Amino acid sequence: MLTKEQNERLTQTSIGTPMGELLRRYWHVVGTAPELEKEPVQPIRLLGENLTLFRSQRGEIGLIGERCAHRAISLAYGIPQENGLRCAYHGWTYDTEGHVVDMPFEPACLPLRIKAYPVQELGGLLWAYLGPEPRPLLPRYEGFVREDLDRRVSFKILPCNWVQCMDNSMDPVHFEHLHGHYGNYINRRLGKPPAMQTPRHLKIDFDVFEYGVYKRRLVEGEPEDGDDWTVGHPILFPNTLAQLQDAYHSYQIRVPIDDTHTMHVLYRGTLRSPDAAPQQELHVEREEVMYDEMGRVFAPVVIRQDEMAWIGQGPVSDRTIEHLATSDKGVALYHNLLLENIDRVERGEDPMAVVRDPEKNEPMIPIRHERVARAAFRPELAQQRVAAGS
Ligand code: FES
Ligand SMILES: [Fe+2]
Repeated sequence: MLTKEQNERLTQTSIGTPMGELLRRYWHVVGTAPELEKEPVQPIRLLGENLTLFRSQRGEIGLIGERCAHRAISLAYGIPQENGLRCAYHGWTYDTEGHVVDMPFEPACLPLRIKAYPVQELGGLLWAYLGPEPRPLLPRYEGFVREDLDRRVSFKILPCNWVQCMDNSMDPVHFEHLHGHYGNYINRRLGKPPAMQTPRHLKIDFDVFEYGVYKRRLVEGEPEDGDDWTVGHPILFPNTLAQLQDAYHSYQIRVPIDDTHTMHVLYRGTLRSPDAAPQQELHVEREEVMYDEMGRVFAPVVIRQDEMAWIGQGPVSDRTIEHLATSDKGVALYHNLLLENIDRVERGEDPMAVVRDPEKNEPMIPIRHERVARAAFRPELAQQRVAAGS
């Protein structure tokens, strides 16, 4: 249970708030290269700030303030130029640093500047940094970098605070109930067979490491030397759940749009067969949360069941009424980690997982991972179990 003030410290994202300042020490996904090629001017909202993402005709990428310095029309209506973005209303033009570089009707160009943030591309995604200089390196995690993976990404806007998604990732036990029992219940109501076995969790544990936290679980029927207990799934601080195996890399990146909205980015890389042609560009999908006729999240599959849990806690979960129990030790650990790193930023230090050493970042950051996916929850085993009457 947290006080109202502690919960605000944990969940507020705007500039000047403790968590808003922590989040501004990291790079955040704002779009994709293929989409910006097709639609070169896009309104963006990130950490409570309204911004304009654009690609000039020269191919330079800028992220500048929402409104023109002249008479404040939205720059989302702007026209890409060789030298930047031209306002649709009277033609004032901005470079990627936010400087006004042209005022067509005026005798001279006034030295005006609007806010501007750096953008970098990695793995087909566009990442922005909204914090103070010197900016850290954009972390080169394996799945975004490896040349032998085919990559796809899907985006979904969630009407809830980002910490709810992270709490869920730090809570292994929910798998058995939310995805097992609830998932099978929904399938039964839809006239379908159970999707999942529901083996009991025997123990859970968490290891803090340089870039985040490993969550580990041991469930009935799994050996103590299995990857799920000896390795587990890394949570990359501050906002990414990773599921990493040799041939499959998945990242769920929870990008805070503002206090009550999150852009959920599901990025997956799958090993390409050696004789297949290299992928031309990142495959991109934009999706929406699905609701049933009662206004509840419709959740027949695992990722939508997680969405149901995140959204089901409300726009900002009221942690003054919750009761954390033994299954929540990962949630408590993660909250403490967030609060400790807020303190580090307030002391003028770098928080964890900020990368500044190129030697650590190049060619990629090695994260210990599993060899194969866990077996215990596999649907085909559930089918066998049902067929066997167990
Ligand atoms: S409002 Fe943008 S140029 Fe006038
Ligand atoms: Fe889940």
